[in-house]
Amino acid sequence: MIDLTGKRIVVLAGTKGIGYGVSEFLLKSGANVFFCSRSEANVRDTLNSLSWAGDRVSGTTCNLTKADSIERFFAKVGERYGKINGLFFNTGGPPPGRFEEIPLDLWDITYELLVRSAVKATQEALKIAERESSFVYLTSVAVKEPVPNLILSNSIRMSILGLVKTLSKEVTPDTGIRFNVVMPGYIRTQRVEEVARSRAIKMGKKIEDVMSEMVSNVPLKRMGEPWEVGALVAFLMSDLSKYINGAAIPIDGGLLNSII
Ligand SMILES: NC(=O)c1ccc[n+]([C@@H]2O[C@H](COP(=O)([O-])OP(=O)(O)OC[C@H]3O[C@@H](n4cnc5c(N)ncnc54)[C@H](OP(=O)(O)O)[C@@H]3O)[C@@H](O)[C@H]2O)c1
Repeated sequence: MIDLTGKRIVVLAGTKGIGYGVSEFLLKSGANVFFCSRSEANVRDTLNSLSWAGDRVSGTTCNLTKADSIERFFAKVGERYGKINGLFFNTGGPPPGRFEEIPLDLWDITYELLVRSAVKATQEALKIAERESSFVYLTSVAVKEPVPNLILSNSIRMSILGLVKTLSKEVTPDTGIRFNVVMPGYIRTQRVEEVARSRAIKMGKKIEDVMSEMVSNVPLKRMGEPWEVGALVAFLMSDLSKYINGAAIPIDGGLLNSII
């Protein structure tokens, strides 16, 4: 097990799916976790189901598409923790669809959801980050190889790679803070079901058949579990990964075809 005892880590969009899996794994590794998401009910349910962690778990609402909401969230984190040791950037996924189906304003909305949110969260997190903190950003295998029917994700997520690599060149030398990206393939969550349902409707297939097709392209022949992303993030938050910086790491059961 990875030991994160004493670390104070912020998990964005931490109430469902991958974000929940990360919150839970970090807590099991001994960290203090402060998570957020938009819905009060989701925050309450998550606080209940993680209540075994006692006062090591905190959560509140935040809408990551709103800069003032992000500011208020980090102000609360600062009040609770003083300084932080880690940030896991995660947010909701953009709607599925092919190029001809996506109106222009959805490109702007997706930029706000996936990129502007990461910039603002990074600005706020840097104000309260200890030296040698670890910032980990969730993207997708879509940044290496386009995923069918996901034009918004395939296009706009690429910015996070440029952002994170540049931060690792500009910010790391003065602060020791490490910046890395994780790129999941198919992880078993509500979101992956939505993506499969959209594909199924389009292709006139059953959702179960589309899910099986997705898995058939994965050499390990299954979807990943949210806790497995949590385990990778815990490693990146830990001192075991102190020499990993500016990297983009897939967690996809071997789905990607590219060699590096
Ligand atoms: N699952 C996969 O296979 C996979 C693979 C690669 C990448 N991804 C990406 O990973 C991210 C998480 O996916 P997931 O599968 O875990 O999705 P999910 O199960 O739908 O969970 C999404 C989480 O994000 C929160 N959220 C959504 N919009 C938000 C916002 N504007 N501000 C704050 N919180 C927000 C949701 O809570 P509230 O509703 O309470 O806000 C929820 O906790 C998405 O960007 C997705 O595209 C997923």
